[in-house]
Amino acid sequence: MASSLIGRQLALFLQKNLWLGAPGCRYVSKAVPQTQVDFEYDGPCMKTSVPGPRSQELTKQLGEIQNVGAINFFCNYEESRGNYLVDVDGNRMLDVYTQISSIPIGYNHPALLKLMSNPNNLSTFVNRPALGILPPETFPDTLTDSLLSVAPSGMTRVQTMACGSCSNENAYKAMFIWYKNKERGHNTPSDEDVSTCMVNQAPGCPDLSIMSFMGAFHGRTLGCLATTHSKAIHKLDVPSFDWPIAPFPRLRYPLEQFTRENAQEEARCLEEVEDLIVKWRQKGKPVAGIVIEPIQAEGGDNHASPNFFRSLRNIARKHGCAFHVDEVQTGGGCTGKFWAHEHWGMDDPADIVSFSKKLLTGGYYHKDELQADKAYRIFNTWMGDPSKNLFLSEVLNVIRRESLLEEVARSGRALLNGLYELQAQYPGILSRARGQGTFCAIDVCDDATRTSILLKARNKGILLGGCGERSIRFRPALIFKEYHVHLFLNIFNDILAKHK
Ligand SMILES: Cc1ncc(COP(=O)(O)O)c(C=O)c1O
Repeated sequence: MASSLIGRQLALFLQKNLWLGAPGCRYVSKAVPQTQVDFEYDGPCMKTSVPGPRSQELTKQLGEIQNVGAINFFCNYEESRGNYLVDVDGNRMLDVYTQISSIPIGYNHPALLKLMSNPNNLSTFVNRPALGILPPETFPDTLTDSLLSVAPSGMTRVQTMACGSCSNENAYKAMFIWYKNKERGHNTPSDEDVSTCMVNQAPGCPDLSIMSFMGAFHGRTLGCLATTHSKAIHKLDVPSFDWPIAPFPRLRYPLEQFTRENAQEEARCLEEVEDLIVKWRQKGKPVAGIVIEPIQAEGGDNHASPNFFRSLRNIARKHGCAFHVDEVQTGGGCTGKFWAHEHWGMDDPADIVSFSKKLLTGGYYHKDELQADKAYRIFNTWMGDPSKNLFLSEVLNVIRRESLLEEVARSGRALLNGLYELQAQYPGILSRARGQGTFCAIDVCDDATRTSILLKARNKGILLGGCGERSIRFRPALIFKEYHVHLFLNIFNDILAKHK
């Protein structure tokens, strides 16, 4: 009885909110044909500058409660559709940043709304379990249908978590536990291990380390922060570990034009990696694991070649370090393959692959031997959220049904070619266009110009993000079609042409 009441209310809500073909103000070059976007708006539509008056009012109100320094504007998620984010002042913007790269198939996708209307799913949304102790009956099947159906090569085990940082944090713990058991030759700690760990001393808390790379971003929790080296503001005043930091290759773009120089730069970094592993072992802080992003995102969209990653994976194996690939930002299809590491062409690319963002749930895949050996070693109250796995199954259905990876590859080519053209047209402003799939970026001559361009773009109805010292990053949803690429390029071109 109760569930049918909720079902009816939900159905009414959905009728009201499902794609009602909102009237659109066109902002589209006539040269750009619109295709297959029948369930969303037909272009940006701006009513005020952003943030508008209502956003400013709400920022003031929230400022009485929280730090609001990072808030851009307030959103109207009910009105947002597909690639378009609507704000509380009624501005409708083409979203090429998608909540820091975390919206897989756009706003209010009908397939996801439909899931909500199924009364059989209601209890999953209403009751969030402590998954590590009391999972629902459907959980093994849900995991099999969602995360395991896209498991990286060589991995059949997955641990869900809540967010990217907590996925990485627990992946690091799994690597330390694995390393220590390997060193002991068994998994029974000594009495001394047990007593010393309680007071943060060795041998119970061993001096092991995780190697990371300059410019990396792996999150802001304490362990992750020790491996994050993108911006000082993230790290300032927070105690950290003495762990090795290797140089990440600084490559020249387009990569195909600078293969010789780039190979030299990568060889230099790989040599340093091996030196650091040896040095830290001698210091008594052996490297238990190496963590790396397939493309350094927050740190400025820095790429490296498949050969670099293959060599790094071999170095990790040679020195007995676990190899952890952080796909929190690159995972989920935006590079044109479901996982960015698939571009490396390896059967055994990693020991651990962490994810979050477009996967809707956090977590990490791991090799069998990295399974924690005892209960409660990798544990927290929620350990993920089954409702997110339910959504993920449907997102994966949409990706397959609509061939969205091919779509991303197509849109990505159009986007990168457009960026190449723009940088040729405005060499004083733009340089170093780069990308894989729609995971693209371009550098701006300086930080002030970047900020000015980002704000102008926003006021023209295009939402973009920055990364690194002076890059603009493009992180659209997987439903960003060639039509949207051209729409974006037209507006971006106008802004650049008028830029003083
Ligand atoms: C590569 C990478 N790792 C980890 C994180 C941290 O994820 P979260 O912000 O969900 O903690 C991010 C977030 O941007 C990321 O890009």
